[in-house]
Amino acid sequence: MSAPSFEQLLQQDKFSRKDLVRMLSANEIDTLKLFSRAEEVRISHVGKNVYLRGLIEISNICAKDCYYCGIRKSNKNTQRYELSNEEILSAAEFAHKNRFGSIVLQGGEIISNRHTDWIETIVREVKKLSNGSLGITLSLGEQSEETYERWFEAGAHRYLLRIESSDPCLYREIHPDNSLHDYQKRLQSLDLLQSIGYQVGTGVMIGLPKQTIEQLAGDLLFFQSNDIDMIGMGPYIEHKDTPLYAKKNNLSFLDERYLLALKMVASLRILMKDINIASVTALQAINPEGREEAIKVGANVIMPNITPGIWRNVYKLYENKPTISQDDEDNLSYLIERIAAIGYNVQLDSWGDSLHYKSRKKED
Ligand code: 5AD
Repeated sequence: MSAPSFEQLLQQDKFSRKDLVRMLSANEIDTLKLFSRAEEVRISHVGKNVYLRGLIEISNICAKDCYYCGIRKSNKNTQRYELSNEEILSAAEFAHKNRFGSIVLQGGEIISNRHTDWIETIVREVKKLSNGSLGITLSLGEQSEETYERWFEAGAHRYLLRIESSDPCLYREIHPDNSLHDYQKRLQSLDLLQSIGYQVGTGVMIGLPKQTIEQLAGDLLFFQSNDIDMIGMGPYIEHKDTPLYAKKNNLSFLDERYLLALKMVASLRILMKDINIASVTALQAINPEGREEAIKVGANVIMPNITPGIWRNVYKLYENKPTISQDDEDNLSYLIERIAAIGYNVQLDSWGDSLHYKSRKKED
């Protein structure tokens, strides 16, 4: 049997790693077909809505030392901060008043009783100030089962924990080889989160040194086999104060990483039709139109940064991270207009839960 044409391939229900490699290595003409099939799938399965999550970067203090990340513990060139309760709650209030529907509390990975108590209090307070209406996603790294449970009980209902790369060998190359950076532990954390009842988000970086298209296709299959509800993935962007910067000669150009990231979004939308996919800021860091472009090829979630202005420049995971301008109050209506201009609709006052999660729950 001869191989299906690219058009036929895009219409399949099931995809092998080889199929996904073909999609990710599409030439210019096939890429347009990939993007338009992704748009079609997106509209028929999750509609034209785009959901907002106000991103609050609560602290850049981190116990981990990931080789790619600007807020890694050993980076002495970064000023460390932790927002006060008042700062976090006023950002949450802002999200509530501006009808974001939900927020994400993201921060460096800290494991301590104080930290667990602190987050628990914040989650309860956010619920209180919004009469239970603001959805809360946490993105605070690997924690114990008890901690995850306490935060869930307090009212958080979604959790983001990127696998970074689903290939254990690549994972090992971009993290220190010790128990704090253990691939298996990462997998266990994702399992724990799912069994507690969170909607679970994960993701990878795209265009890491020496990363192959086969590995990226494997990442997409990993999301599928782990029944993931939400994905945030974007281009790797080198940061000069990190060890991985030394490998910058092994990188593809930024615009190639950008295009590959869009192909990953489009392929994932075709593979997992009912999940939530975020249009991440790393795309926007490379191309000012990045946010809209990802929406057009299948993303349905945007995470505007609502961290208090003075701290936004300090939470630097990578260089050139977009800050301020686009995301302030005056600019929220601008964002809504830009999304409308490409034919999509920002759905305010909505949690925008992953449809995949809803059908997963029904099957239980
Ligand atoms: N480039 C792109 N993304 C990065 N992240 C961390 N460092 C970088 C970088 N240099 C991503 C990781 C992490 C998320 C919060 O930010 O995937 O999970």
